[in-house]
Amino acid sequence: MTYKEQVDRSRLPRHVAIIMDGNGRWAKQQGEMRVFGHQNGVTAVRQTAEAAAEIGVEYVTLYAFSTENWNRPKEEVDALMQLLVHTIHEETKTLNENDIRLETIGDTNSLPESCRRELLEAIENTKNNKRMALVLALSYSSRWEITEATRKIAEDVQQGKIKPAEIGSDTINDYLCTAKYPEPELLIRTSGEHRVSNFLLWQIAYSEFYFTDTLWPDFNKEEFYKALVDYQKRERRFGQTSEQVLKTS
Ligand code: FPP
Repeated sequence: MTYKEQVDRSRLPRHVAIIMDGNGRWAKQQGEMRVFGHQNGVTAVRQTAEAAAEIGVEYVTLYAFSTENWNRPKEEVDALMQLLVHTIHEETKTLNENDIRLETIGDTNSLPESCRRELLEAIENTKNNKRMALVLALSYSSRWEITEATRKIAEDVQQGKIKPAEIGSDTINDYLCTAKYPEPELLIRTSGEHRVSNFLLWQIAYSEFYFTDTLWPDFNKEEFYKALVDYQKRERRFGQTSEQVLKTS
């Protein structure tokens, strides 16, 4: 039985977040440059988006470029940006065919102009698609996001739009880039690393984590469904006891 057949479609996570890791090591294993790994990572992105949409996941957020990634060698940063522009351009048609809308979180103003333009165009051209949102985290890090949110809240307090006493956890949520998304129920990280690396720190408070040794370019539909099957075996308690959860479910 395939992993896809084992997925219980009535208990799907609505939102899956993914830290795509291992492109560089995959390339090295093939005796190639790191960029070759990123290029092959695009195939895994396509497979993952299709797999998620086919089964009925509503949101997939991919950590495509972190704030810290700007510190990589210039040639690698440039190559990644070019790859993004090229991929977004090439894939818009497929996104529309699959009824997937492209969205983004992060400091997109810091992206090169060509990349920003391509991104905004693809977002505009796919905005009415209903089946799934593919959210690219670009120039994103949680600490950047939380710092920005804090600054905006402080400004709104200063302007009298909100009172300090009114600030609750929902307020903070509303000021994050992810305000309109449900929290990810599942976080996947590939390549055997067990870290969160500044990704959605606020949003993953109750997420289930799934780690696989598979390097990102080798990740595919069945690997995605395998993660869903594993997720569905877990009991999510949100701080309650097992008995409390069983009573309410
Ligand atoms: C991590 O592998 C991967 C990245 C920093 C970039 C991810 C980008 C892609 C998969 C390609 C383009 C994406 C889209 C959405 C079109 P790494 O380089 O850190 O690998 P390593 O840990 O083995 O060095």
